[in-house]
Amino acid sequence: MDILNDTICRQLILEAGKMMGMAYAPYSGFKVGAALLTASREIYTGCNIENAAFSPTVCAERTAFFKAISEGEREFAAIAIIGGKDGIPTGYTAPCGVCRQVMAEFCSPQDFYVILARSEGDYRKYRLEELFPLGFSPENLKKD
Ligand code: THU
Repeated sequence: MDILNDTICRQLILEAGKMMGMAYAPYSGFKVGAALLTASREIYTGCNIENAAFSPTVCAERTAFFKAISEGEREFAAIAIIGGKDGIPTGYTAPCGVCRQVMAEFCSPQDFYVILARSEGDYRKYRLEELFPLGFSPENLKKD
């Protein structure tokens, strides 16, 4: 069975959408929510959390990943992302380079999906390898 059918994509987007409301984004006003699906079909959510010193800001995707990792999760299937100025999604919000690098640490580039959504019924699905080609990953540190 396709673990990432339309029903589960919509559910992830719904959860990610709720998380936009939790975003702490007083500087950019750009609110992002993410919902991360584990291989065992648990969902971990996250929002962006900004900081007056700017560089400590963390994206919604990393919040979701770090919540999951810290709870012992290690296998992931997909992440849905939705965001927009003042929490109103107009375009698709793609993950930043740092978040893609974090995804590459824990996820198979071929099997992990990134869902970019504008609404529950309007989304695009990408494999991580499409968004992060030739990435540096734990594979690079293995002995030949
Ligand atoms: N942001 C995310 O949380 N995820 C993304 O995919 C793109 C950017 C956040 C970081 C910052 O708080 C705000 O959006 C503007 O860059």
